[in-house]
Amino acid sequence: MAFTREALIESVSAQMPEKRWKHTLGVMESSVKLAERYGGDPVRAETAAILHDVAKYWPVETMKEIIEQNGLSAELLKYDKQLWHAEVGAFVAEKEYGITDPGVLGAIKFHTSGRENMSLLEKIVCLADYIEPGRDFPGVDDIRKKAKVSLEEGLVAGFDSTISLLLQKRRIVFPLTVLARNDLVRILEDKR
Ligand SMILES: [Fe+2]
Ligand SMILES: [Fe+2]
Repeated sequence: MAFTREALIESVSAQMPEKRWKHTLGVMESSVKLAERYGGDPVRAETAAILHDVAKYWPVETMKEIIEQNGLSAELLKYDKQLWHAEVGAFVAEKEYGITDPGVLGAIKFHTSGRENMSLLEKIVCLADYIEPGRDFPGVDDIRKKAKVSLEEGLVAGFDSTISLLLQKRRIVFPLTVLARNDLVRILEDKR
């Protein structure tokens, strides 16, 4: 049940508002560029990018049901709903779109939170989600600059901005993001 690139684009774009689809096009573009720059597979990176926000605009109740009924991370339900679409997206990519490549599924699943020991593809899509051309938030240009140094530098800047914002607003920080950030900082320190 493999979808062609065009069929995938048609089906996924129909599930979100125009603005979010534009964001997805930006993530596709940035994922391909990062893959080319850092030795990733641009085709797999683009596939993950097309699907990364597929469930972003699904009703919260639907996402909750999918998580509960399919044994996905119950832990996730204790945290911000904004995180749910990544896990649900990976599930949908596999079940509805026939994606079997575990690397692509991982890049969808961890595109918001990150995790420890992120794969090359996971780093690419997660960073592309921060820096795609349509993104405009305080600090995005710094993240774009760091992304030119290395994937790790870019991601640390991205996660730091996310974590700082959550701290400022006194919101809960998803532990996986802290683990991801610390892991990347360690990698950068070891390189010195
Ligand atoms: Fe997302
Ligand atoms: Fe996104």
